[in-house]
Amino acid sequence: PNITHQIMESSSLRRENCRAKGGSPGFKVAILGAAGGIGQPLSLLMKMNPLVSVLHLYDVVNTPGVTSDISHMDTSAVVRGFLGQPQLEDALTGMDLVIIPAGVPRKPGMTRDDLFNINAGIVKTLSQGIAKCCPKAIVNVISNPVNSTVPIAAEIFKKAGTYDPSRLLGVTMLDVVRANTFVAEVLGLDPKEVNVPVVGGHAGVTILPLLSQIKPPINFTPKETEYLTSRIQNGGTEVVEAKAGTGSATLSMAYAAVKFADACLRGLRGDAGVIECAFISSQVTELPFFASRVRLGRNGIEEIYPLGPLNEYERAGLEMAKKELAGSIEKGVSFARK
Ligand code: NAD
Ligand code: LMR
Repeated sequence: PNITHQIMESSSLRRENCRAKGGSPGFKVAILGAAGGIGQPLSLLMKMNPLVSVLHLYDVVNTPGVTSDISHMDTSAVVRGFLGQPQLEDALTGMDLVIIPAGVPRKPGMTRDDLFNINAGIVKTLSQGIAKCCPKAIVNVISNPVNSTVPIAAEIFKKAGTYDPSRLLGVTMLDVVRANTFVAEVLGLDPKEVNVPVVGGHAGVTILPLLSQIKPPINFTPKETEYLTSRIQNGGTEVVEAKAGTGSATLSMAYAAVKFADACLRGLRGDAGVIECAFISSQVTELPFFASRVRLGRNGIEEIYPLGPLNEYERAGLEMAKKELAGSIEKGVSFARK
Protein backbone atom coordinates (compact mmCIF):
# COMPACT_ATOMS: atom_id res chain seq x y z
CA PRO A 1 0.00 0.00 0.00
CA ASN A 2 2.91 2.40 0.70
CA ILE A 3 4.30 1.99 -2.80
CA THR A 4 0.84 2.47 -4.33
CA HIS A 5 0.37 5.60 -2.24
CA GLN A 6 3.79 6.97 -3.28
CA ILE A 7 3.09 6.32 -6.96
CA MET A 8 -0.32 8.00 -6.72
CA GLU A 9 1.06 11.05 -4.92
CA SER A 10 3.99 11.56 -7.30
CA SER A 11 1.74 11.09 -10.31
CA SER A 12 -0.75 13.67 -8.94
CA LEU A 13 2.08 16.12 -8.27
CA ARG A 14 3.43 15.56 -11.80
CA ARG A 15 -0.01 16.25 -13.25
CA GLU A 16 -0.49 19.36 -11.09
CA ASN A 17 2.97 20.76 -11.95
CA CYS A 18 2.44 20.06 -15.60
CA ARG A 19 -0.81 22.04 -15.51
CA ALA A 20 0.75 24.89 -13.59
CA LYS A 21 3.58 25.22 -16.16
CA GLY A 22 1.31 24.93 -19.17
CA GLY A 23 -1.07 27.49 -17.71
CA SER A 24 -3.97 25.36 -18.94
CA PRO A 25 -7.28 26.07 -17.21
CA GLY A 26 -7.94 23.98 -14.15
CA PHE A 27 -9.60 24.83 -10.88
CA LYS A 28 -9.35 23.25 -7.47
CA VAL A 29 -12.74 22.15 -6.16
CA ALA A 30 -13.74 20.70 -2.77
CA ILE A 31 -16.99 18.84 -2.11
CA LEU A 32 -18.03 18.79 1.57
CA GLY A 33 -20.44 15.91 2.19
CA ALA A 34 -18.95 14.00 -0.75
CA ALA A 35 -20.00 10.53 0.42
CA GLY A 36 -23.72 11.35 0.62
CA GLY A 37 -26.65 10.82 -1.70
CA ILE A 38 -25.89 14.05 -3.58
CA GLY A 39 -22.16 14.02 -2.81
CA GLN A 40 -21.37 10.77 -4.65
CA PRO A 41 -22.96 11.51 -8.05
CA LEU A 42 -21.77 15.13 -7.71
CA SER A 43 -18.20 13.91 -7.18
CA LEU A 44 -18.54 11.61 -10.19
CA LEU A 45 -19.78 14.43 -12.42
CA MET A 46 -17.15 16.92 -11.19
CA LYS A 47 -14.42 14.35 -11.95
CA MET A 48 -15.73 14.44 -15.54
CA ASN A 49 -15.53 18.26 -15.75
CA PRO A 50 -12.51 19.36 -17.81
CA LEU A 51 -12.33 22.66 -15.89
CA VAL A 52 -11.44 20.79 -12.68
CA SER A 53 -7.75 19.98 -12.10
CA VAL A 54 -7.94 18.94 -8.43
CA LEU A 55 -10.97 17.46 -6.66
CA HIS A 56 -11.01 17.17 -2.87
CA LEU A 57 -13.69 14.86 -1.40
CA TYR A 58 -14.48 15.53 2.27
CA ASP A 59 -17.02 13.83 4.53
CA VAL A 60 -17.26 12.57 8.11
CA VAL A 61 -17.76 8.98 6.81
CA ASN A 62 -16.84 6.76 3.84
CA THR A 63 -14.58 9.09 1.84
CA PRO A 64 -11.74 6.52 1.43
CA GLY A 65 -14.04 4.22 -0.55
CA VAL A 66 -15.67 6.95 -2.63
CA THR A 67 -12.27 8.52 -3.37
CA SER A 68 -10.65 5.22 -4.37
CA ASP A 69 -13.58 4.43 -6.65
CA ILE A 70 -13.75 7.84 -8.36
CA SER A 71 -9.96 8.15 -8.67
CA HIS A 72 -9.95 5.22 -11.16
CA MET A 73 -11.90 7.27 -13.74
CA ASP A 74 -9.59 8.14 -16.64
CA THR A 75 -10.32 11.87 -16.63
CA SER A 76 -7.62 14.38 -15.75
CA ALA A 77 -8.74 15.78 -12.36
CA VAL A 78 -6.53 14.60 -9.47
CA VAL A 79 -8.79 13.24 -6.68
CA ARG A 80 -7.94 13.22 -2.97
CA GLY A 81 -10.09 12.10 -0.04
CA PHE A 82 -10.35 13.63 3.44
CA LEU A 83 -12.11 11.97 6.37
CA GLY A 84 -13.44 13.68 9.48
CA GLN A 85 -13.00 17.06 11.13
CA PRO A 86 -9.20 16.77 11.69
CA GLN A 87 -8.76 16.64 7.90
CA LEU A 88 -11.14 19.50 7.05
CA GLU A 89 -8.40 22.14 6.84
CA ASP A 90 -6.28 20.08 4.43
CA ALA A 91 -9.39 19.46 2.33
CA LEU A 92 -10.04 23.21 2.03
CA THR A 93 -6.58 24.73 1.65
CA GLY A 94 -6.01 26.25 -1.79
CA MET A 95 -9.53 25.63 -3.14
CA ASP A 96 -11.10 27.90 -5.80
CA LEU A 97 -14.63 26.51 -5.38
CA VAL A 98 -16.24 24.75 -2.40
CA ILE A 99 -19.55 22.93 -2.87
CA ILE A 100 -21.51 22.01 0.29
CA PRO A 101 -24.07 19.17 0.09
CA ALA A 102 -23.42 18.10 3.74
CA GLY A 103 -26.40 17.58 6.02
CA VAL A 104 -29.52 15.53 6.62
CA PRO A 105 -32.29 15.30 3.99
CA ARG A 106 -36.08 15.43 4.50
CA LYS A 107 -38.44 12.52 5.11
CA PRO A 108 -42.15 12.64 4.11
CA GLY A 109 -44.12 15.13 6.22
CA MET A 110 -41.11 17.33 7.00
CA THR A 111 -40.44 20.87 5.79
CA ARG A 112 -36.92 21.99 4.87
CA ASP A 113 -36.97 24.14 8.00
CA ASP A 114 -37.31 20.95 10.09
CA LEU A 115 -33.69 20.23 9.06
CA PHE A 116 -32.45 23.49 10.60
CA ASN A 117 -31.45 22.11 14.01
CA ILE A 118 -28.95 19.63 12.55
CA ASN A 119 -27.84 21.33 9.35
CA ALA A 120 -27.30 24.83 10.77
CA GLY A 121 -24.48 23.54 12.97
CA ILE A 122 -22.91 21.55 10.10
CA VAL A 123 -22.88 24.60 7.79
CA LYS A 124 -21.50 26.76 10.60
CA THR A 125 -18.53 24.43 11.21
CA LEU A 126 -17.77 24.06 7.50
CA SER A 127 -18.00 27.84 6.97
CA GLN A 128 -15.52 28.41 9.81
CA GLY A 129 -13.13 26.06 7.99
CA ILE A 130 -13.60 27.94 4.71
CA ALA A 131 -13.00 31.32 6.40
CA LYS A 132 -9.74 30.00 7.80
CA CYS A 133 -8.36 27.97 4.88
CA CYS A 134 -9.76 29.34 1.59
CA PRO A 135 -11.44 32.70 2.31
CA LYS A 136 -11.33 33.69 -1.36
CA ALA A 137 -13.07 30.56 -2.65
CA ILE A 138 -16.47 30.70 -4.33
CA VAL A 139 -18.91 28.84 -2.04
CA ASN A 140 -21.98 26.96 -3.34
CA VAL A 141 -24.38 26.06 -0.48
CA ILE A 142 -26.74 23.14 -1.18
CA SER A 143 -27.53 22.09 2.43
CA ASN A 144 -31.12 22.84 3.48
CA PRO A 145 -32.81 25.01 4.53
CA VAL A 146 -30.90 27.12 1.94
CA ASN A 147 -32.98 30.20 2.94
CA SER A 148 -31.28 30.01 6.37
CA THR A 149 -27.95 28.24 5.70
CA VAL A 150 -26.72 30.96 3.30
CA PRO A 151 -27.33 33.71 5.92
CA ILE A 152 -25.52 31.47 8.47
CA ALA A 153 -22.47 31.16 6.21
CA ALA A 154 -22.52 34.94 5.60
CA GLU A 155 -22.56 35.68 9.34
CA ILE A 156 -19.70 33.24 10.01
CA PHE A 157 -17.62 34.86 7.24
CA LYS A 158 -18.45 38.33 8.65
CA LYS A 159 -17.29 37.26 12.11
CA ALA A 160 -14.03 35.99 10.60
CA GLY A 161 -13.61 39.23 8.60
CA THR A 162 -13.56 37.37 5.29
CA TYR A 163 -17.09 37.97 3.96
CA ASP A 164 -17.32 38.76 0.26
CA PRO A 165 -21.02 38.67 -0.74
CA SER A 166 -20.10 38.10 -4.39
CA ARG A 167 -18.54 34.73 -3.53
CA LEU A 168 -21.36 33.15 -1.52
CA LEU A 169 -24.19 31.53 -3.48
CA GLY A 170 -27.12 29.37 -2.38
CA VAL A 171 -27.84 26.75 -5.04
CA THR A 172 -31.40 27.12 -6.41
CA MET A 173 -30.49 25.62 -9.78
CA LEU A 174 -32.70 22.56 -9.19
CA ASP A 175 -35.76 24.83 -9.17
CA VAL A 176 -34.75 26.18 -12.60
CA VAL A 177 -34.00 22.65 -13.88
CA ARG A 178 -37.44 21.47 -12.71
CA ALA A 179 -39.18 24.56 -14.11
CA ASN A 180 -37.56 24.02 -17.53
CA THR A 181 -38.55 20.33 -17.47
CA PHE A 182 -42.17 20.80 -16.39
CA VAL A 183 -42.78 23.72 -18.77
CA ALA A 184 -41.24 21.78 -21.67
CA GLU A 185 -43.54 18.84 -20.84
CA VAL A 186 -46.64 21.06 -20.98
CA LEU A 187 -45.56 22.68 -24.25
CA GLY A 188 -44.19 19.55 -25.93
CA LEU A 189 -40.76 21.22 -26.33
CA ASP A 190 -37.21 20.01 -25.76
CA PRO A 191 -36.26 21.28 -22.24
CA LYS A 192 -33.00 22.57 -23.74
CA GLU A 193 -35.02 25.22 -25.59
CA VAL A 194 -36.71 26.49 -22.41
CA ASN A 195 -35.35 28.90 -19.81
CA VAL A 196 -37.52 29.87 -16.82
CA PRO A 197 -36.13 32.35 -14.27
CA VAL A 198 -36.96 31.23 -10.71
CA VAL A 199 -36.47 33.86 -8.00
CA GLY A 200 -37.09 34.28 -4.24
CA GLY A 201 -35.71 31.35 -2.25
CA HIS A 202 -35.63 27.56 -2.04
CA ALA A 203 -38.65 26.35 -0.02
CA GLY A 204 -42.38 26.17 -0.77
CA VAL A 205 -43.91 29.55 -1.63
CA THR A 206 -40.48 31.23 -1.61
CA ILE A 207 -39.78 29.38 -4.89
CA LEU A 208 -41.19 31.89 -7.37
CA PRO A 209 -41.05 30.91 -11.05
CA LEU A 210 -41.45 33.92 -13.35
CA LEU A 211 -43.43 32.22 -16.11
CA SER A 212 -44.20 35.62 -17.69
CA GLN A 213 -40.47 35.97 -18.45
CA ILE A 214 -39.92 32.53 -19.94
CA LYS A 215 -37.74 32.13 -23.02
CA PRO A 216 -39.10 31.53 -25.65
CA PRO A 217 -41.96 33.90 -24.72
CA ILE A 218 -45.25 32.04 -24.16
CA ASN A 219 -48.62 33.11 -22.78
CA PHE A 220 -49.91 30.50 -20.31
CA THR A 221 -53.57 30.21 -19.35
CA PRO A 222 -54.34 30.90 -15.64
CA LYS A 223 -54.89 27.13 -15.20
CA GLU A 224 -51.48 26.30 -16.71
CA THR A 225 -49.79 28.99 -14.59
CA GLU A 226 -51.41 27.61 -11.43
CA TYR A 227 -50.44 24.00 -12.27
CA LEU A 228 -46.84 24.82 -13.24
CA THR A 229 -46.18 27.13 -10.27
CA SER A 230 -47.49 24.56 -7.82
CA ARG A 231 -45.54 21.67 -9.45
CA ILE A 232 -42.30 23.68 -9.41
CA GLN A 233 -42.80 24.79 -5.79
CA ASN A 234 -43.56 21.22 -4.70
CA GLY A 235 -40.97 19.42 -6.87
CA GLY A 236 -38.79 18.59 -3.86
CA THR A 237 -41.75 17.19 -1.90
CA GLU A 238 -42.78 15.11 -4.94
CA VAL A 239 -39.37 13.36 -4.81
CA VAL A 240 -39.36 13.06 -0.98
CA GLU A 241 -42.75 11.30 -1.12
CA ALA A 242 -41.73 9.01 -4.00
CA LYS A 243 -38.57 8.02 -2.09
CA ALA A 244 -40.84 7.20 0.87
CA GLY A 245 -38.45 7.85 3.75
CA THR A 246 -35.13 7.03 2.04
CA GLY A 247 -34.20 10.64 1.28
CA SER A 248 -34.79 13.55 -1.09
CA ALA A 249 -33.59 14.49 -4.58
CA THR A 250 -29.99 13.37 -5.08
CA LEU A 251 -29.50 12.58 -8.77
CA SER A 252 -31.31 15.57 -10.30
CA MET A 253 -29.65 17.67 -7.57
CA ALA A 254 -26.17 16.42 -8.47
CA TYR A 255 -26.95 17.28 -12.11
CA ALA A 256 -28.17 20.76 -11.10
CA ALA A 257 -25.19 21.32 -8.75
CA VAL A 258 -22.74 20.46 -11.52
CA LYS A 259 -24.56 22.70 -13.99
CA PHE A 260 -24.26 25.53 -11.46
CA ALA A 261 -20.65 24.77 -10.43
CA ASP A 262 -19.64 24.62 -14.09
CA ALA A 263 -21.19 28.09 -14.58
CA CYS A 264 -19.17 29.39 -11.59
CA LEU A 265 -15.96 27.90 -13.05
CA ARG A 266 -16.64 29.32 -16.53
CA GLY A 267 -17.15 32.69 -14.82
CA LEU A 268 -13.84 32.30 -12.95
CA ARG A 269 -12.14 31.47 -16.26
CA GLY A 270 -13.43 34.77 -17.65
CA ASP A 271 -16.14 33.54 -20.02
CA ALA A 272 -18.64 36.25 -21.01
CA GLY A 273 -22.41 36.07 -20.53
CA VAL A 274 -22.60 33.38 -17.81
CA ILE A 275 -26.03 34.01 -16.25
CA GLU A 276 -27.81 31.77 -13.71
CA CYS A 277 -30.26 32.11 -10.80
CA ALA A 278 -28.92 31.85 -7.22
CA PHE A 279 -29.86 32.80 -3.65
CA ILE A 280 -27.49 35.62 -2.71
CA SER A 281 -26.93 38.78 -0.71
CA SER A 282 -29.11 41.23 -2.59
CA GLN A 283 -30.70 44.66 -2.83
CA VAL A 284 -33.25 43.58 -5.41
CA THR A 285 -35.93 43.63 -2.66
CA GLU A 286 -35.90 45.00 0.90
CA LEU A 287 -34.67 41.59 2.15
CA PRO A 288 -30.92 41.06 2.72
CA PHE A 289 -30.94 37.83 0.67
CA PHE A 290 -32.98 36.93 -2.38
CA ALA A 291 -32.63 34.60 -5.36
CA SER A 292 -32.51 36.20 -8.78
CA ARG A 293 -30.57 36.07 -12.03
CA VAL A 294 -26.89 36.91 -11.67
CA ARG A 295 -23.94 37.24 -14.04
CA LEU A 296 -20.94 35.19 -12.94
CA GLY A 297 -17.36 36.25 -13.61
CA ARG A 298 -13.78 36.21 -12.36
CA ASN A 299 -14.87 37.53 -8.95
CA GLY A 300 -17.99 35.41 -8.52
CA ILE A 301 -21.20 37.46 -8.83
CA GLU A 302 -20.46 40.45 -11.07
CA GLU A 303 -23.99 41.70 -11.71
CA ILE A 304 -27.38 41.11 -10.08
CA TYR A 305 -30.33 41.62 -12.39
CA PRO A 306 -33.58 43.25 -11.22
CA LEU A 307 -36.71 41.10 -11.20
CA GLY A 308 -38.14 42.74 -14.32
CA PRO A 309 -41.85 43.25 -14.97
CA LEU A 310 -44.09 40.85 -12.97
CA ASN A 311 -47.72 40.08 -13.71
CA GLU A 312 -50.43 40.27 -11.03
CA TYR A 313 -50.12 36.54 -10.13
CA GLU A 314 -46.35 36.89 -9.69
CA ARG A 315 -46.67 40.11 -7.65
CA ALA A 316 -48.98 38.27 -5.22
CA GLY A 317 -46.51 35.35 -5.13
CA LEU A 318 -43.65 37.76 -4.42
CA GLU A 319 -45.42 39.14 -1.34
CA MET A 320 -45.97 35.59 0.05
CA ALA A 321 -42.37 34.65 -0.74
CA LYS A 322 -40.93 37.71 1.01
CA LYS A 323 -43.00 37.12 4.13
CA GLU A 324 -41.69 33.56 4.59
CA LEU A 325 -38.15 34.42 3.50
CA ALA A 326 -37.80 37.22 6.07
CA GLY A 327 -38.35 34.73 8.93
CA SER A 328 -36.00 32.09 7.52
CA ILE A 329 -33.21 34.62 6.93
CA GLU A 330 -33.61 36.06 10.44
CA LYS A 331 -33.54 32.55 11.94
CA GLY A 332 -30.19 31.85 10.25
CA VAL A 333 -28.67 35.19 11.20
CA SER A 334 -29.63 34.92 14.87
CA PHE A 335 -28.37 31.31 15.08
CA ALA A 336 -24.96 32.34 13.72
CA ARG A 337 -24.75 35.43 15.98
CA LYS A 338 -25.45 33.40 19.14
P1 NAD B 1 -27.28 12.38 2.67
O1 NAD B 1 -27.65 12.11 4.06
O2 NAD B 1 -27.41 11.28 1.67
O3 NAD B 1 -25.77 12.89 2.61
C1 NAD B 1 -25.29 13.91 3.42
C2 NAD B 1 -23.83 13.70 3.67
O4 NAD B 1 -23.37 14.74 4.53
C3 NAD B 1 -23.51 12.35 4.39
O5 NAD B 1 -22.55 11.63 3.67
C4 NAD B 1 -22.99 12.80 5.74
O6 NAD B 1 -21.99 11.95 6.27
C5 NAD B 1 -22.42 14.16 5.39
N1 NAD B 1 -22.20 15.00 6.56
C6 NAD B 1 -22.92 15.08 7.71
N2 NAD B 1 -22.32 15.93 8.56
C7 NAD B 1 -21.21 16.39 7.94
C8 NAD B 1 -20.19 17.30 8.32
N3 NAD B 1 -20.18 17.90 9.50
N4 NAD B 1 -19.20 17.52 7.43
C9 NAD B 1 -19.20 16.92 6.22
N5 NAD B 1 -20.14 16.06 5.82
C10 NAD B 1 -21.12 15.79 6.68
O7 NAD B 1 -28.13 13.66 2.19
P2 NAD B 1 -28.32 14.22 0.70
O8 NAD B 1 -29.50 13.59 0.09
O9 NAD B 1 -27.01 14.16 -0.01
O10 NAD B 1 -28.71 15.74 1.02
C11 NAD B 1 -27.78 16.62 1.59
C12 NAD B 1 -28.40 18.00 1.84
O11 NAD B 1 -28.75 18.63 0.60
C13 NAD B 1 -29.71 17.95 2.65
O12 NAD B 1 -29.70 19.00 3.58
C14 NAD B 1 -30.78 18.20 1.61
O13 NAD B 1 -31.95 18.74 2.16
C15 NAD B 1 -30.07 19.17 0.70
N6 NAD B 1 -30.63 19.31 -0.66
C16 NAD B 1 -30.65 20.55 -1.21
C17 NAD B 1 -31.13 20.74 -2.49
C18 NAD B 1 -31.15 22.10 -3.10
O14 NAD B 1 -31.81 22.29 -4.12
N7 NAD B 1 -30.43 23.07 -2.58
C19 NAD B 1 -31.61 19.64 -3.23
C20 NAD B 1 -31.56 18.37 -2.64
C21 NAD B 1 -31.07 18.21 -1.34
C1 LMR C 1 -35.28 19.70 -3.29
O1 LMR C 1 -35.82 20.73 -3.70
O2 LMR C 1 -35.37 18.61 -3.89
C2 LMR C 1 -34.44 19.75 -2.05
O3 LMR C 1 -34.53 21.01 -1.42
C3 LMR C 1 -34.66 18.61 -1.12
C4 LMR C 1 -36.00 18.67 -0.44
O4 LMR C 1 -36.02 18.52 0.79
O5 LMR C 1 -37.02 18.83 -1.10
